[in-house]
Amino acid sequence: MLTLLGIVLLIHILVPSSAHPEDLFLVKAGRFFQPLSAETATQEFPIAPELVELGRALFFDPRLSFDGTVSCSRCHQPSLYGTDALPKSVGVENRPNPRNAPTILNAALQFSLHWYGDRTSVEDQAAKSFLGPASFGNPDFASVKAKIKAVTGYEEMFAKAFPSEKDPVTQQNCGKAIGAYERTLLTPSPFDSYLRGDTKSLSAVAVAGLTEFLEVGCVSCHGGIALGGGEFRKFGILRDYWELTGSSEVDKGRFNVTNDPADLYVFKVPGLRNVSMTPPYFHDGSVATLPQAIRLMADLQIGKKLSEQQVHSMVHFLDALTGKLPAGYAVPPTLPPGGFQAR
Ligand code: HEC
Ligand code: HEC
Repeated sequence: MLTLLGIVLLIHILVPSSAHPEDLFLVKAGRFFQPLSAETATQEFPIAPELVELGRALFFDPRLSFDGTVSCSRCHQPSLYGTDALPKSVGVENRPNPRNAPTILNAALQFSLHWYGDRTSVEDQAAKSFLGPASFGNPDFASVKAKIKAVTGYEEMFAKAFPSEKDPVTQQNCGKAIGAYERTLLTPSPFDSYLRGDTKSLSAVAVAGLTEFLEVGCVSCHGGIALGGGEFRKFGILRDYWELTGSSEVDKGRFNVTNDPADLYVFKVPGLRNVSMTPPYFHDGSVATLPQAIRLMADLQIGKKLSEQQVHSMVHFLDALTGKLPAGYAVPPTLPPGGFQAR
C-alpha cells in the first residue's frame, strides 16, 4: 500500500518540477467541477431558433395568466438574476406561494426541478406552471389556449416552431418552447475560465475560498457543472434547520411528495451559480445574506463552525460564479400584439 509519503514522492516524479502549485490545484478542482458547455439540448428536447423565439415570448407574456397580470418573468426577473428577491413568491390575486423562487438561469443543468424535485425537466415544469393556482391561476389549459389564440401572431409562431403539427397550440408544446428557451439561459463565469486553465481569472482570496469549499466539504453536495442540482439531501443533517434559520413554518420537503419518512426535510440541493445575486436564501427565503447562508450550511450540514476569514473567502469564491446575463434574457422581447381576453 502506498503511504502518504509514497504518494507525495510519486506526484513529484510524475509532475514535472516546473509545474506551478496553482496548476496542481486546478487539476484537483477539475475533479469536482466541470466548466459550462454550450450544449444543453438533448435528443428529446432540441433547441431550434423558432422554438426559442416562441418560448421567449411566452415567458415574458402576462396575457396568458388568469387575470392578465402574471408572466413567468414576474417571479423570474432579469434584473434580479432570474428571481423575484422575495422570501416567497406572490402570484395572481396576490396568492402566496409556499416556497422561494429559484433562478431559472442554468436551471436546465439540474437533474430535476423545484425544491421537491417533483418536475422532471424545464419543459415539464413550464407546461405545468400555467395551471399553478398560486402562479398563473388558470383553471385549465383550454382557457390558456383561448388567450394564446387571441394574440395575433402566436399562431404563426407555433406553426413555425412545430411545422409538422396541425394543431400545435398544446400545453406540452408551450412547455417545449419555454424549455428550449431556458436551455439557452447559461451564464459562463470567471470560475469557468479558471477551470479551463486561466488561473488569473480568480483572485487570490477567491482561490482561498475555493480551497475552503473543497476542504470543509461543501463540494460533497455542491459539485459538478451546476455546483449542486444533482441529488436530494436532508436540510439540517446535524440539527433541525428551523432552530438556526428562524423559519416560522416547517416544510417537510420531499416527504410531501413521496410520503416516505426517509424524505422528511429532504430537498433538492440547489445549484450555486449566480448565488451572490439571488438572495434571500433557502426554500423558505428565511436567510437574507450569503455570509449567513454559508455559516448555517457549515453548521447544519457538516457540523463545523467557520471562522470569519473562511466565510469571507467563500463569499469571494461564490462571487466568481456570477456570469453575464444572456442577451436574449437581459432584454425582454417585443411581444406579438393582440387583445387580452377577460377570464
Ligand atoms: C408567482 C411566481 C412564479 C411564476 C409566475 C412562475 N414561477 Fe417559476 N418558480 C416559482 C417558485 C416559487 C418556484 C419554486 C417552486 C417549488 O419548488 O415549490 C419556481 C420554480 C421554477 C423553476 C425550477 C427552478 C429550480 O432550480 O428548481 C423553473 C425552471 C421555473 N420556476 C420556471 C418558470 C417558468 C418557465 C414560468 C412560466 C411558465 C414560471 N416559472 C412562472 C415562482 C414562479
Ligand atoms: C449534505 C449536503 C450539503 C452540504 C455538505 C452543503 N450543502 Fe448547501 N445546500 C444543501 C441543501 C439540501 C440546500 C437546500 C436547503 C433548503 O433550502 O431546503 C443547500 C442550500 C445552500 C445554499 C442556498 C442556496 C439558495 O439558492 O438558496 C447555499 C448558499 C449553500 N447551500 C452553500 C453551501 C456551502 C458554502 C456549504 C459548505 C459550508 C454547503 N452548502 C454544504 C446541501 C448541502
